[in-house]
Amino acid sequence: MFPAIAIDGPAASGKSTVARIVAEKLGYTFINTGAMYRAMTWYVLSRGISPADTQAVIALLPEAPLEFGKKGAVSIVLYNGRELTDELTGTEVNSNVSAIAAIPEVRELLVNRQREYNTREAVVMEGRDIGTVVFPSTPFKYFVTASEEVRQARRAAQGQQDSIAERDRKDSSRAASPLTQAPDARLIDTSDLTIDQVVAMIVDDIRTKTALL
Ligand code: DC
Repeated sequence: MFPAIAIDGPAASGKSTVARIVAEKLGYTFINTGAMYRAMTWYVLSRGISPADTQAVIALLPEAPLEFGKKGAVSIVLYNGRELTDELTGTEVNSNVSAIAAIPEVRELLVNRQREYNTREAVVMEGRDIGTVVFPSTPFKYFVTASEEVRQARRAAQGQQDSIAERDRKDSSRAASPLTQAPDARLIDTSDLTIDQVVAMIVDDIRTKTALL
């Protein structure tokens, strides 16, 4: 069994940046699960299907030519063999991804792919349901958050149009695996912390727990 580090939190909480550096420091693979839901959303939209048409979305799943791979020690998504990058952060994807992520069949498919990574290697995985659903028994769970103003400012600084409050509301209120802090996750509010401080808190915690295991 390989270790799995679960990092969850709301949109623009800084969890991707933190998870990526934690993975580098530990020599683990960084898995961005939001990119997997975004890729599925991009594909649905590119096929002219409305995300509200749940049955049409489900029908598309078995034939979706998406592959979930790695480049170095970082997860990537390929469409017909081509890596998707800018496609994943467009305004259309930002405003439709919560609807796609609320479909249980989409989640089942992607959660299986996420677990597959950990059958081969140690991972730092970030998302919304990693500590609650994907790896419920890992002892390494972190819930990374920040005030709404700080998160809005971070997204704006990335030059993206993204209604994060709206996305968080949808992601937290859906029936299937909603965004929620696992009871055994450590809560870290990053509003007044630097990235280095957050990374150090998580890495120290993992090292302490690993020594006790
Ligand atoms: O992390 P992100 O903002 O790129 O995620 C995009 C969306 O994908 C997010 O609004 C909800 C969904 N998501 C999810 O439902 N479960 C995950 N594990 C990761 C993301």
